[in-house]
This record gives sequence, structure tokens and C-alpha cells, in this order.
Amino acid sequence: MFKTRGLLVSLEGIDGCGKSTQIELLQNKLNQSGISFVSIREPGGTAVGEGIRQVLLQSSYSLTSEAELLLYMAARAELSRQIIIPSLMEGKVVLCDRFTDSTFAYQGYGAGLDLQWIRQLNHKATGGRLPDLTFLLDLSVQEAAARRGDNLDRMEKKNFHYHGRVQRGYLEIARQEPERVVVVDAKVSKEKLCGYIWQKLFPHLRKATKRTGHEF
Ligand code: TMP
Repeated sequence: MFKTRGLLVSLEGIDGCGKSTQIELLQNKLNQSGISFVSIREPGGTAVGEGIRQVLLQSSYSLTSEAELLLYMAARAELSRQIIIPSLMEGKVVLCDRFTDSTFAYQGYGAGLDLQWIRQLNHKATGGRLPDLTFLLDLSVQEAAARRGDNLDRMEKKNFHYHGRVQRGYLEIARQEPERVVVVDAKVSKEKLCGYIWQKLFPHLRKATKRTGHEF
């Protein structure tokens, strides 16, 4: 287990829930507040991770669930060791567009792979450094599908039942870990949603920055 001081925040939700827009809005708010942060996406964020992302999302490829899981984990191991853990050690806030819960939701609840196996792999890939706080953007599968449009990647092309299992999986994770996972209604306007996330995030930022000496 790595001992770190920063704050690790993840945003999660099914494809089309508006997560990446929220990440952009949060980046603006963190910049305006003068808070030192890094923002990353999964899979990706490192040279190898971005290469793995292309393989995972390429719609012409067919992958077994096991290979898919291990590729997500390989990208996560790179990102955790190269960027997340060093940034947290420096006391920074790390904002993740998806992290460990995506694997439970998609490969676990969605594809039916063993949750215990995923837990072990997540532990190895992250060095045991899991998110301090997670926002789950909650949107129905129908609404999310309507927002996604037509140009779909390999994961988005999976069927409606799959995405339904992913969505229910996310809600189950939130039910099991209410202290960490904040469920937010993603149907509201992007500004309202960002305001709500910021309000919940702010006390954690305050605490983390006091701890690391970068008060704002
Ligand atoms: P996104 O970055 O545009 O959300 O696309 C990433 C896709 O990969 C999305 O469909 C969710 C999926 N995914 C998994 O299935 N497992 C994972 O562990 C992660 C990080 C993402």
C-alpha cells in the first residue's frame, strides 16, 4: 500500500452520462480556485495507455471479456505508477474520468467476470490506492443511449441489456459504499450538475489542501 497525501477523485457512469463535460467544468473551477491538480482519463493518460485505449475501443476488433479486463488493468497499472501515485505524493488533487469502479461495473456486473478477481487485479494495478471520493452520474440507459449518437466505439456498441447491467452494477457499488460514492442526477443541466458536484467536493478539497499545506 502506497501512503499518499493528495486527493483522488473519480467520475463514473454509463456511456453518454455527461461525465467528460463535467470533468471539463471541474477543471475550470479548480483552475479558478488555484488548486494544483492533474486530470486524467481511463483507459489512457500515458503513451502506452492511449495505445491500449485504441485497441479496446476499436469497433472492428472482437475481444474476449478476459482479454478486455486485462487490457484495462494494464493501462491502469501504467497510469497509477506513472502519474496517479507520484501526483498524490506531491499533494495534488487527481481528477479521474473513470477508474476502478468502471471495471466492476463493465467487466464485472456487465460481462459477468468474477468480482473477487477484479478486486485483486484492481489492488495490484493501483498499488491499493483507491479513490477517496467518487461521483456517479446517474442516467437511465435510454437517455444515455439517445445522447451517444451514431458513431459508436466497441464498448458503446454492446447491447442494451449489457448497458442495463452496467448501470445496475454502478448503483449496487454506490449502495455498498455510500461514504465514498455520491450519486448525482445527470438529467439536470450541466451547470446545475457541476454546481452540485462542486458543493460536495469542496469540503474534501479544503481538508486535502490544508493537509498538504496548499491552502486556498
Ligand atoms: P470513455 O473514456 O469515453 O468513457 O470510454 C471508455 C470506455 O471503456 C467506456 O465504454 C467504459 C469502458 N471501460 C471499461 O469497460 N472498463 C474499465 O475499467 C474502464 C476504465 C473503462
